[in-house]
Amino acid sequence: MTYLVTDNCVKCKHTDCVAVCPVDCFYEGEDALVINPDECIDCGVCVPECPVDAIVADTDLPESELIIWMERNTKYSEVWPNIVEQKDPLPDADTWNGVPDKWETFVES
Ligand code: SF4
Ligand code: F3S
Repeated sequence: MTYLVTDNCVKCKHTDCVAVCPVDCFYEGEDALVINPDECIDCGVCVPECPVDAIVADTDLPESELIIWMERNTKYSEVWPNIVEQKDPLPDADTWNGVPDKWETFVES
């Protein structure tokens, strides 16, 4: 299994998750982070750290969602740079919390 970053990270990017990951497997795009599923050791410590509940276990996603988020995390962790230190969230993070379908709008529009 692995953990995956999902839609609510987009436009929020709190990065609390980065501070606790023991294997530094987060990768940073302009509007969101992803996890490299091959590097994640399934420790789960990042899950409660995310203020907007954007990180989920793959086993908790329905099949259709699992395919989508596995593809996105895998693809972008291979092209975005590694992030190992926490930084400030995006400026309007609170405004974007809970807005649906942000990935399609901002990451792959
Ligand atoms: Fe890192 Fe553990 Fe979260 Fe995987 S589950 S991304 S290893 S903190
Ligand atoms: Fe994104 Fe949550 Fe990490 S908003 S950057 S998954 S703490």
